[in-house]
Amino acid sequence: LDLYAVIGNPVAHSKSPLIHTIFAQQTNQSIQYDARLAPLEGFISVVENFRQQGGKGLNVTVPFKLEAYQLSTHLTERARTAQAVNTLKFENDEILGDNTDGIGLVRDIESNLGIAIAAKRILLLGAGGASRGVILPLLQRQPALLTIANRTLHKAEALQQQFIPHGDIVAVDFMDFPDDKFDIIINATSASLHDALPQIPAEIFSHAILAYDMMYSQEPTRFLKFAQQNGVQQWADGTGMLVEQAAESFFFWRGINPQTKPVITMLKSQA
Ligand code: ATR
Repeated sequence: LDLYAVIGNPVAHSKSPLIHTIFAQQTNQSIQYDARLAPLEGFISVVENFRQQGGKGLNVTVPFKLEAYQLSTHLTERARTAQAVNTLKFENDEILGDNTDGIGLVRDIESNLGIAIAAKRILLLGAGGASRGVILPLLQRQPALLTIANRTLHKAEALQQQFIPHGDIVAVDFMDFPDDKFDIIINATSASLHDALPQIPAEIFSHAILAYDMMYSQEPTRFLKFAQQNGVQQWADGTGMLVEQAAESFFFWRGINPQTKPVITMLKSQA
């Protein structure tokens, strides 16, 4: 039985153990997957402990993605540009770091929701770690333009500078919103965690195909309610992204693609 876990703080409500246990059953893999709570100052010792027990890989969640990035001896390109790692694989003495969040978002939008990103005008709200993690995979789908909007403009500008070699990307702040029309509006701010709504104009939703909140929750977030009230065609929370990033982590570890749709359906029906 190969040992895997999700490490975070808090971690008790993580759906990853359930998702990976279902993936393992689907694909006949003998793995055990549990949750490890690390003290805020104790990430590295919990990881070392886990490796000594023979652990093969970890999913890393809040607030340890940067520490996991720093701990990795090898990084995938998407982890390097995200400057964050959500998936660790232990092989001999090496610690391989990947970031599957962005591809998880892209797959959910394209494969599950059926909306192509290529040639679309994308608005990404927020310029923190969650936002940085998804920019490269979004740009690789070749949208017409990726606009990053943030309450604090200089953080959006720093991301624009970092990612300009990878595609068409601009930075704006919430006070100076362009009246461009957007097709896909993604909330990567942490506002939904605090039941808050980023101060965005209502009009931006009237031409939008999709409003996407990277957070998942029982109730629609304020962002999704606001988008619905203002005419967006379709909306989704981050449940599909969660399952898709898990599937890509599972592939990174086991080299097998599990089926995501039944797991997404199950999680959405539990909500
Ligand atoms: P994460 O890792 O979740 O991205 P973070 O790096 O702390 O967390 O970034 C939080 C993001 O959410 C930032 O873009 C933040 O905006 P500021 O840079 O202006 O602080 C954004 N954010 C948080 N609460 C918000 C709110 N109520 N309205 C708008 N933006 C908010």
